[in-house]
Parts: sequence; structure tokens; C-alpha cells
Amino acid sequence: MKEIHDFTILERRSLGDSYFSLLLGHGGKMQTTLPGQFVEVQVEGEPKVMLRRPISVHDVDEVAGTMTLMIQIVGSGTRRLAQLGVGERLNVVYPLGHGFSTDLPSGSHALLVGGGAGIAPLFYLAKVLKARGVECTVLLGGRSANLIPVSDAFEPYGRVCVTTDDGSRGHKGLVVSHPAFAERYDMVYTCGPTPMMKAVARSAAERGLRCEVSLENMMACGVGACLCCVTDTDQGHRCVCKDGPVFDISTMQKWYK
Ligand SMILES: Cc1cc2nc3c(=O)[nH]c(=O)nc-3n(C[C@H](O)[C@H](O)[C@H](O)COP(=O)(O)OP(=O)(O)OC[C@H]3O[C@@H](n4cnc5c(N)ncnc54)[C@H](O)[C@@H]3O)c2cc1C
Ligand code: FES
Repeated sequence: MKEIHDFTILERRSLGDSYFSLLLGHGGKMQTTLPGQFVEVQVEGEPKVMLRRPISVHDVDEVAGTMTLMIQIVGSGTRRLAQLGVGERLNVVYPLGHGFSTDLPSGSHALLVGGGAGIAPLFYLAKVLKARGVECTVLLGGRSANLIPVSDAFEPYGRVCVTTDDGSRGHKGLVVSHPAFAERYDMVYTCGPTPMMKAVARSAAERGLRCEVSLENMMACGVGACLCCVTDTDQGHRCVCKDGPVFDISTMQKWYK
């Protein structure tokens, strides 16, 4: 069930380049939050930013009652969020949307493909899958090495492969050109820039692999009321905030073709 809460910033970490993370807690029990779900954060102290900003849940620690967000600074709202320090307050609506399917049998093999800020939700996903006995390959791509944050943090949860457009780290090229991408998987999950996700979805469909994409359309209300996040699916128009952000590509041919 979604709720609105004032969280306190317990830790703020710079992740190099334009990325940072915020560890949040509100001193109580967290609502059950699933990988792929997101929050809407209020940006206070920046008059230009009226609407809440959608941010994926990067990690959850149910025992400690904390949640982590990983954020890339791209505009006024995220720049203001980057100025917040430990002890400051952040008003959050959570958990929102439908997350990734994590009901894979133990021993199955999943591929998690992320790019840019789309890496954020894959971390919590990898943790949950590993706890369920699923073997994960995490394939992260970016224009250059400094635009691939937190890749080391994935290592306890699976094999980590990196691609960069300029070859400054890992395999040179796009994620779909990495040899690990061509292997056989029971499930493919992806979140990142739209062209990357479409390429992943097309390839997964051609190979008959099950695949889920997490869309990051611009949002306003975050709860299905304003229709500003609508995407065209094979089943008609769907709100990314309420019906997604995660969609199975078997319903998304119109989107990725
Ligand atoms: C479901 C969902 C989950 C998200 N998760 C994360 C996350 O975990 N970490 C993270 O850093 N970002 C995430 N985003 C993107 C984040 O919401 C935007 O970057 C943020 O709202 C931009 O706010 P701003 O005020 O800083 O920038 P604005 O001033 O609003 O915009 C700055 C620039 O960014 C572009 N932009 C804004 N929003 C988006 C978007 N959704 N997709 C592509 N371009 C955009 C604008 O067109 C503009 O060019 C997510 C978005 C969605 C919909
Ligand atoms: S953001 Fe308002 S309907 Fe999705």
C-alpha cells in the first residue's frame, strides 16, 4: 500500500561524475517495496520545480528500515536533491508502480542490462534474485567509464560485465554487442535509455527470451491521474506510472519494433 512519509537522509554518497546516492529512513517499518517500483520525491527549496520527481528504488534494507536512491543530476530538481545533506528531510510517496517479476525458479539464469540512471533499479533486483537462488549476469553500459556508477557493488550478486562507447572500460561498443549478451538466459531485464532498451527487447524477442523493460517516461502525478506518462502498447495506451514502469515485452511489440 502506498504512503507518504517524511524520510530523514541518513547518508549521502557521491558516486563520481553526476551521480550520488541517498540513504533514507523514517524511524519506522518500511512498506513492502519490490524491485522495479519507484518513489516520487518532493523537491523543496527550488521554486522552479513544482512537481515531484520519480526515482527508482535502488536498494531496500527491511531489517534496518531504510531505502536507498541513486540519482543522476540532469536538471533543477535533481541538482537541488544533490544539495541535501545528512539529517535533512525528504518527503516521499512510495511504493509506486509495478515492479519486475522475480518469481524465477532457483538455478535459473537472468541477464540484467542497465544504462545510465537505469542501473538504479537493477541493484535491488540483483539482490532479490540472488537471495532466490537465481544466477545473475549484470551487463552495464555507458558512453564512458565515469558514466557507469556502482558497478562494483553488483559483484556479490552476480557476474558483472561492462561496455563503454569509447572503450575506456570493459568491452568497446553497445551492450547488445557484448559476448555475454548472446548467451542463453531464462529472463532478461532492462532499464536505461530508450534506444538501448528497444535494442535489448528486439534481440530478446528474436531469440524467444522472456524480457521485461522498465520505462522512464516523463511523469507528473505518478498515480495514473494526469495521463502525461502514457505509452502505446499492444493492449492500447497504458500509464507507465500505474501500469508500469515495468512491462513484459510480449505486450510491447508496438513500442520496440
Ligand atoms: C519510473 C522512473 C524512475 C526513475 N528512476 C530514476 C533513478 O533511479 N535515478 C535517476 O537519476 N533518475 C531516475 N528517473 C529520471 C528522473 O525522474 C529525472 O531525471 C528527473 O525527474 C529529472 O528532474 P530534474 O528536475 O532534475 O530535470 P528537469 O529539469 O525536469 O529535466 C532536465 C532534463 O532531463 C530530461 N528528463 C527529465 N525527466 C526525464 C526522464 N524521465 N527521462 C528522460 N529524460 C528526462 C528533460 O527532458 C530535460 O532535458 C526515473 C524516471 C522515471 C519515470
Ligand atoms: S504520471 Fe500522471 S498518469 Fe502517469
